[in-house]
Amino acid sequence: MSDGENREAGGAVSESSAVARENAPRHVAIIMDGNGRWAAQRKLPRLEGHRRGVEALRRTVRNAIDLGIAYLTVYSFSSENWSRPVDEVSGLMFLLKRFIRNDLAELHANNVRIRVIGAREGLPGDIAPLLAEAEDVTRANTGLVLVIAFNYGGRQEIVAAARALAQDVAAGRLDANAIDADAFAARLYTADMPDPDLVIRTSGELRISNFLPWQSAYAEFVFTPTLWPDFDRAALEAALDEFARRERRFGGVDAVHHVKKTAS
Ligand code: FPP
Repeated sequence: MSDGENREAGGAVSESSAVARENAPRHVAIIMDGNGRWAAQRKLPRLEGHRRGVEALRRTVRNAIDLGIAYLTVYSFSSENWSRPVDEVSGLMFLLKRFIRNDLAELHANNVRIRVIGAREGLPGDIAPLLAEAEDVTRANTGLVLVIAFNYGGRQEIVAAARALAQDVAAGRLDANAIDADAFAARLYTADMPDPDLVIRTSGELRISNFLPWQSAYAEFVFTPTLWPDFDRAALEAALDEFARRERRFGGVDAVHHVKKTAS
């Protein structure tokens, strides 16, 4: 039995994870990378890696609830993922639909609120209504907020916010001199959410790949070689422990152990 399983089963909690509980991130964002390599290592089709990736996501949502994380944002499909082979793109669309259809009732029963960030335009016919339904059904829930970044691109989000600001100025609704970081953040998909405290990327790649570039300005980053389908309770706790050991200064001198909400 691994250390993680031991903890999950109510076994002894290590000293370091006790530290993590005292200084836990409110918002964890994850770049779920390595599904393809996980499959290739086993000579399986890439889609099998993504299917196992959905299982890792399901597991991570349960662990996040258990660990008291308030917001969990996951990068499920980027604006750039359209350039993948057509079969893989349609497979990912299918997995998203199946995830929502199969898991919505359980997520709702567990008081999870689903939010979706990313462009709704250009999604195949039945996806946008399904995403809207998941948001509507869970709107009043007060537990974990699961933010699914789907057809999401950070630069596109920033450009859209700049366009919205320009339109507000042109229409006389906003004074150009009143544009500040809060005005900008208020026009992002994440307007009413706290910024991520911790961004995790699996699979050993050291990039952020257009994921929450504005919102993660002061986030801590943890990169783990674990491939996403293998990401388990122990891997999540290891990332939380690493976060707990970091000293966050937000550009100042003293360590700060809470995050200022940037949105208005
Ligand atoms: C990166 O692995 C992962 C993705 C592009 C998609 C992430 C999707 C899931 C975890 C499953 C789908 C979940 C939902 C809710 C639809 P990669 O294919 O880039 O892996 P590689 O770098 O090893 O090739």
